[in-house]
Amino acid sequence: MTTWDKIYRDYNNGGEDWATLSENIHPLFKQFLNKSNFEFKHVLDIGCGTGKYLRFLADRGFKTDGVDSSETAVKMAKSVLDKKTSNIKKADMFKLRITKNSYDLIISISTIHHGAKKDVQNLINKIHSALANGGKIFITLPDFESTKKWNTFYHSHKKSKNGAFYPTSGPEKGLAHSFYAKAEVQKLFAKFSGVKISLDKIGRWVVQASK
Ligand SMILES: C[S@@+](CC[C@H](N)C(=O)[O-])C[C@H]1O[C@@H](n2cnc3c(N)ncnc32)[C@H](O)[C@@H]1O
Repeated sequence: MTTWDKIYRDYNNGGEDWATLSENIHPLFKQFLNKSNFEFKHVLDIGCGTGKYLRFLADRGFKTDGVDSSETAVKMAKSVLDKKTSNIKKADMFKLRITKNSYDLIISISTIHHGAKKDVQNLINKIHSALANGGKIFITLPDFESTKKWNTFYHSHKKSKNGAFYPTSGPEKGLAHSFYAKAEVQKLFAKFSGVKISLDKIGRWVVQASK
């Protein structure tokens, strides 16, 4: 069972409403969708969780693919989506093999930072090759400075040589978290065009870009 699998199971049994569990669709995501055109309307959500973003996109005519390493999340996402137009799989995002040029939208909310910095960069490169030309991304990553306001990390963590922090308490105890300054985010997405980076209210970099 993964750390997040336990968070979802506990939540389903009346436990803590942790992190993004009851977060609404990001207001910047709604703006991003309103001003974008998609030719194929085929989305991949990396770390799809309960499937709320995919449900939102399915309601707007998208074919929805999602991956998550939590079995419970995969079940929850499947339960809100139509089997005919969705494909939700349990997978480790860092081991994903994605066909080149296959999506015109790839999203990932509060997920891809759960690894060592080099693995996060490799995953972003893979996302670039999985996008069709003209395809778009909407991805969030935590801001390093903002973590000073996040008690779990600032007061109690171990830092590894791989650049990631590991909280020593709380529901995400022991799970890798990589945090980024804006200049690092610019480097991570250097292959993309039209990169727009904004900081949201809770201290996440929101990256919108195209291939
Ligand atoms: C903070 S939750 C965000 C879920 C969803 N994107 C949302 O906004 O509600 C992080 C998600 O990342 C998933 N996750 C963590 N590590 C992963 C990995 N290596 N591969 C795939 N999914 C992973 C967790 O299971 C969890 O669903």
